[in-house]
Formats: sequence, structure tokens, C-alpha cells
Amino acid sequence: MAVSSAPGKVYLFGEHAVVYGEPAVPCAIELRARVDVEQRADSKLRVHAEDLSLDGFTVEYAGEPEGRPDVDVSESLLNAAMGYVDSAIEQVRSVTGEDDVGFDVTIESDIPLGAGLGSSAAVAVAAIDAGTRELGTTLEIDDLAERAYRTEHEVQGGQASRADTFCSATGGAVRVEGDDCRSLEAPELPIVIGFDGGAGDTGELVAGVRGLREEYDFAADTVEAIGDIVRRGEDALAAGDIEELGRLMDFNHGLLSALGVSSRTLDSMVWAARDAGAMGAKLTGAGGGGCIVSLDDTNETETALSYTPGCEDAFRAELAETGVA
Ligand code: PMV
Repeated sequence: MAVSSAPGKVYLFGEHAVVYGEPAVPCAIELRARVDVEQRADSKLRVHAEDLSLDGFTVEYAGEPEGRPDVDVSESLLNAAMGYVDSAIEQVRSVTGEDDVGFDVTIESDIPLGAGLGSSAAVAVAAIDAGTRELGTTLEIDDLAERAYRTEHEVQGGQASRADTFCSATGGAVRVEGDDCRSLEAPELPIVIGFDGGAGDTGELVAGVRGLREEYDFAADTVEAIGDIVRRGEDALAAGDIEELGRLMDFNHGLLSALGVSSRTLDSMVWAARDAGAMGAKLTGAGGGGCIVSLDDTNETETALSYTPGCEDAFRAELAETGVA
């Protein structure tokens, strides 16, 4: 049996705009997905998934719809999670050319599904790494990240950037612009996350931004302005200027909100963090629901978020220096 884990991430800057060639800076955090892969004697794929949300629930899924239990997560999310595993295993098979090899796959994840923390990328990266190692091959990190990207691209109907998967594979803070992916030096960041218990549909949200961008020049300009924020954000990150990072995150949230991907609870959490003295706050990931990321080196933001209506969980997250392992 081979076991791998990979971290989730927050976007400091640039989600959505990255889909149109602007740069983005995601940063890996110490919430991980662990995947065990064991080769079977037959060609079946059997997936056991546990704790696929912060609330914790258990899914026993044997690849057949009737095998799915009644769990506290929407059917579409569960299908999406299993789609990533199926597609990741296809990548494993294509690496080794063993098209009919079967596996037992067990997933345990600390990362809430579809909440902007990169759960699907972490599962795809860890599954491809564990699956190929189970068959005796160790992929270079760039090859692994590229294959995990193809998994996301396929499951998300052709709409994905390399940001989540590259960040999860390498760990740390990264910069992604088109197919140019690199690691960045980052200072210790006082990251506080608020989670509304919900999730957004990445494909739908990306399609919404695409539609606005096609209809209105000012929406296209907004996407470009997010790119400008990211470039300034890189300078602030290199200089270790956390106050400037916070200001730029606030600006980035405003523009994401203008593009229609925020929500009432995401906005409430962002404002609660700002009111509590956070240096900056924004939604992270596709939006629509899920998580915000804020920077605060006191305990005020965590406390304020935990009393904010609509916020289900507030916690501090360390930067994950280690990617897939
Ligand atoms: O919410 P997540 O973690 O799936 O992030 C989506 C980020 C987008 O920029 C909206 C899409 C992408 O593939 O980059």
C-alpha cells in the first residue's frame, strides 16, 4: 500500500482572474488530504472516503450510485469528489500504461469540500502520487502537478487553472500565470479562516464571471485590475509587508464581489474580520459560499468570527511548507 498526503490552500490573491491568464498567488495551509492506494487483484476501483468536511462524516462508496450512504453533504458535491478520484486514477493508469489495474483507495481529509480551500486539488495530487508509487513509479513534482491539473480540468468541464494543484503539490506560497508556475518566498503569515459551512459550485461561478466578462468591458477591466493587485501583492509578499498585503486583499475582495462571486455570509465574515482589526480579509477560491481568509496576529478576528451569524467555524491556519509527502 502507498500513502500520500497533500495540503489545501488559500488564495492570497487572484482567483477567477487566473482563469483568464492573470497571475494568482495561492498559499498552502496545514489542512491535508491523505490518500491510501492499494492495488487490487481485479480491475475494480473501490473508494472509501472519510471526514470530507470539517464537521466530519463517513462515506463508504464502492463506485456504484446505490452504494452511496445517506450523508450530510449534497449529492452533487459527493459526486464531484468521487469524480476527482476516478479521474486521478485514470492519470495513474496512463502513467504506467496499465489500463485495467484496480485499486482500493481510502481518503481522509481535513479540508472541507468545495469551500475554497483546495480540497479537490489536494485529493487529486495525493491520489496520483500514492497511485503511481503503488505501481513502482515516482513522478517528478512538476509532472505530478500537471497530471493533477488535467484531473481538475477534466472534472470541471475544461475550466481550471494550475494554481490549486501546483500549490498543493509543492507547498508554500506560489505564483501561477498560465502554465508558468513557481514558488515564492513568503514571510510567516497570521492567517485566520472563517468557514460558513457551505460550498460554491466552481464550474457555475467560473461560468458566471466568464459571462460578465464577455458582456461588459468593465467586467473584463475588473479581471485585469485583479491581475494588477496580484502584481502589487507579490512585491508586498517579497518585502514581508503584511499590512500592505491586507490592504490589497481587501481590494481584491471588493473586485470579486463586483464580479458576483461573493455571498451574504462571505461578506459578513469579511466585515466581521475587518471590524475586529484584521489587516485584510477576502473570500478564497471560487466563492458563492465556503471560506474567507484574513490576516490578524491577535485573537480578535477568530473570536469575532465565531460570533458572526453564518460563520460555522473560525480557525488559524499555518502555512504548509511541505507539499505532497
Ligand atoms: O474554490 P476552489 O478551491 O475550487 O478555487 C477555484 C479557483 C478559480 O480561480 C475560481 C478556478 C481555478 O481553477 O483557478
